[in-house]
Amino acid sequence: MANFKIRDYRREDESAVADLYMLTFAEPPWNKRISFDKASGEVHGNSVQPAFIGLVATDAENIVGFRFAYPLTENVFRFLSPVIKRPALNSAKIGVHPDYRRRGIARTMMLETIKRAYEKGFKQLVGRTKNHDAMGPLYAELGYKSLGRMDPQDPERIYYVLDL
Ligand SMILES: CC(C)(COP(=O)(O)OP(=O)(O)OC[C@H]1O[C@@H](n2cnc3c(N)ncnc32)[C@H](O)[C@@H]1OP(=O)(O)O)[C@@H](O)C(=O)NCCC(=O)NCCS
Repeated sequence: MANFKIRDYRREDESAVADLYMLTFAEPPWNKRISFDKASGEVHGNSVQPAFIGLVATDAENIVGFRFAYPLTENVFRFLSPVIKRPALNSAKIGVHPDYRRRGIARTMMLETIKRAYEKGFKQLVGRTKNHDAMGPLYAELGYKSLGRMDPQDPERIYYVLDL
């Protein structure tokens, strides 16, 4: 059914992924309006994290999805410390172009991330979202457990963990 491929993120994908990041996070619940420079900076910043796992989904010509993850360091999400099993992978960003949704692209990229995390010896994946039509069901389908709203600074955020 789905006519797409998943491959590793490459340095030269930065602009296309920044465009897609701006597009996909401009919609609710994020309503994020950021400049191309800021988006590129975030994409670049994620991609140079040690042990970065970056995936993109492509159709015949274009990048239509991206998924970024990297190790969760001790100083990030400190309020989760009692439940974190280290080493843990922070599933940082995922976005799929609106014209390519409901084809399983996000599911495929998340499953590939889980597989790679397992192979690299991570004990847990950590994800978060806000109240979200898609991500709640998707995390649940993949076996993530909801921890609920854990961040006192950002009470709308809902956290999820998947034990490997
Ligand atoms: C969230 C997002 C990445 C999902 O991408 P996608 O490729 O369309 O997702 P999939 O096709 O793999 O969906 C897998 C399952 O998730 C759930 N799902 C996905 N979109 C949904 C929606 N709009 N409403 C309800 N459930 C949804 C369904 O259970 C779906 O399975 P099904 O199609 O067999 O019913 C995409 O909607 C997106 O880019 N949103 C904007 C950015 C964003 O919010 N990112 C997440 C930040 S936490």
